[in-house]
Amino acid sequence: MKQKGPAFRRNNIQFKALFNKSFKTRLVKDMGPFMTTWTWTNEPLEKFAADLDVRGKSVLSICAGGDMALTFLLNGAKFVDVFDKTIKARFDTEIKIATMRQYKKFDTVLRKMAAFDSAAKKVDILKKNRVWNKISPQMRALAETWDSAGYNTPFGNGRRPFDENIAHYKKIHKLVQGMSAPPLGEFIWRDLAGMSGVGKKYDVIYLSNIPEYGGFDWNAVMETLSPILPDGGQVIGMSGNKFHIATKIRD
Ligand SMILES: C[S@@+](CC[C@H](N)C(=O)[O-])C[C@H]1O[C@@H](n2cnc3c(N)ncnc32)[C@H](O)[C@@H]1O
Repeated sequence: MKQKGPAFRRNNIQFKALFNKSFKTRLVKDMGPFMTTWTWTNEPLEKFAADLDVRGKSVLSICAGGDMALTFLLNGAKFVDVFDKTIKARFDTEIKIATMRQYKKFDTVLRKMAAFDSAAKKVDILKKNRVWNKISPQMRALAETWDSAGYNTPFGNGRRPFDENIAHYKKIHKLVQGMSAPPLGEFIWRDLAGMSGVGKKYDVIYLSNIPEYGGFDWNAVMETLSPILPDGGQVIGMSGNKFHIATKIRD
């Protein structure tokens, strides 16, 4: 009898559901379409090049603050589209890229982003930083609406691994400085559960540590993502600094 759903194989990295029920409920509640995101990632970016080969591949990555997506680009991906259930991931990422374009020194980028992070009135900060003009009109509109929502972003969970990622951020900064075209492709404002219909196929789909959020069902996720994965396409999640890889065998 033919197995229901797509066939795929997984590497032996097990996911430990980090979050107990109450935390999970709160976390999932927290992660709504207009909620905060991570300005700086809590993932060790150096491991991406070490463990994942995306050279010449099409990648769809969780957006968050854009760090993982820009890392795939740095590591040779053909193009990188991003998706996230919160629109603020797009705002944060566009601000970061515009700031990296605007300022030649990485320390200035950090200072401006930190100022932006803790600034009361983001729009003023944007004006002062002359980053404004590099931000698309609708982002400007979003920025204006945003301040009324009292938006704040965690500066990466404490300083780890932000400090360890500094050398890596400098490479991303150099990459963005050298690019005339926008570094990242499409931003898809959608929950993972609704990704089956995005109408494009990707060699690699990166889920960050979403699989750590208890109740994550790989069969259901591979069913959802199978229409946008070629045979041999990979869905990758991170848990405890290790990559869990599910490779699609066939529909
Ligand atoms: C998984 S969270 C954790 C932070 C991540 N480790 C990092 O360093 O950026 C990252 C992003 O995933 C998004 N996210 C969480 N659950 C999601 C879902 N079911 N569908 C789409 N995006 C989701 C959140 O909005 C957030 O921007």
